[in-house]
Amino acid sequence: MSKHYRIAVIPGDGTGPEVIAEGIKVLKKAGEKFGFSFDFTTFPWGGAHYLATGETLPADAAETLKKFDAVYLGAIGDPKVKPGILEKGILLKLRFDLDQYINLRPVKLYPNVETPLANKGPEDIDYVVVRENTGGIYTGIGGVSQQGTKNEVAIQSMVYSYAQVERCIRFAFEQAKKRHSKEAPWRGLSAEDIAAGKIAQLTLCGKTNVLTYVFGLWERVFYEVAKDYPEVKTAYCHVDATTMWMVKNPEWFDVIVTCNIFGDIITDLAAMTQGGMGTAAGGNINPEGVSMFEPIGGSAPKYTGKGVINPLAAIGAAGMMLDFLGEADAAAAVDGAIAKVTTRMDSMAAGKMGHSTSEVGDLVAGLI
Ligand code: IPM
Ligand code: MN
Repeated sequence: MSKHYRIAVIPGDGTGPEVIAEGIKVLKKAGEKFGFSFDFTTFPWGGAHYLATGETLPADAAETLKKFDAVYLGAIGDPKVKPGILEKGILLKLRFDLDQYINLRPVKLYPNVETPLANKGPEDIDYVVVRENTGGIYTGIGGVSQQGTKNEVAIQSMVYSYAQVERCIRFAFEQAKKRHSKEAPWRGLSAEDIAAGKIAQLTLCGKTNVLTYVFGLWERVFYEVAKDYPEVKTAYCHVDATTMWMVKNPEWFDVIVTCNIFGDIITDLAAMTQGGMGTAAGGNINPEGVSMFEPIGGSAPKYTGKGVINPLAAIGAAGMMLDFLGEADAAAAVDGAIAKVTTRMDSMAAGKMGHSTSEVGDLVAGLI
């Protein structure tokens, strides 16, 4: 019997529904080709729903989503809603309630895509950021006293437990191994490393020189877990230096693991090096539960309804979903198709692609 997947779809706001439609087109095509099928159940949550009903998410949203095989999210954000409400009330709430403790963000420059990095090409910009996704500063632990006065004190704490750090780092080591199961290893590795049996490199991005408690913990756990992965070379970079190397020598990175806030910041920089938000996909992963895949760009209100937004990030997120559903061949086919379609586009920027949103979706689907 062929496999059947139940997907919860949250198209969300702005251009979210337009890009999600293209991702679904590609998923259906991949299913036909590789012998599986889907049913999609759409949920209305987002800025428009909040403005109409006063509700961000219903109380049982996470319980409802847990019954699906995966969640496919477009974009949440509406300029008419005060910053923080939708982010905390929908996106972060789902990440936390579904315990999606990894935010996996591949950084990949596709062929023919323009990068602002001089003299760098697709062979140089191809790595993965494993961002811890449910802890750190994002827990919101802290408080404020005497707000609105000159005596105001505000605290927001970076909170990590050993267990939280360990599960994230272990996932990152597994990711490093997995990336190299098929390809020849070379990234960040010297001839001696390879002769010593190393197949991949994992870099811990931290701030051990200042955040000595939190990154003292991360660093200790990193080297403890590393003992279980002798085939992975370990490296360490402070976060400020990481941003420098991401621009100067991105080819040095293979897999980067980092805390929530650093991962948030470095992946926007990373997205720019891969040619913008148009191709930047991500997955909020709970390896033991239900995961949620999304383009990492926002709702792009000014392009809404014009059919000009680039759907490749959403299509790439759909490809990541296939991989996590266990459909590795279909996932590889989606990625391969994206890599061909970028060579037929004038630009990755909205309105400058030389194709409409749905034409780009058709091109990818046609190559699966
Ligand atoms: C992201 C976003 C979110 C984050 C915001 C919208 C809360 O920037 O997915 O990177 O900070 O995680
Ligand atoms: Mn971000």
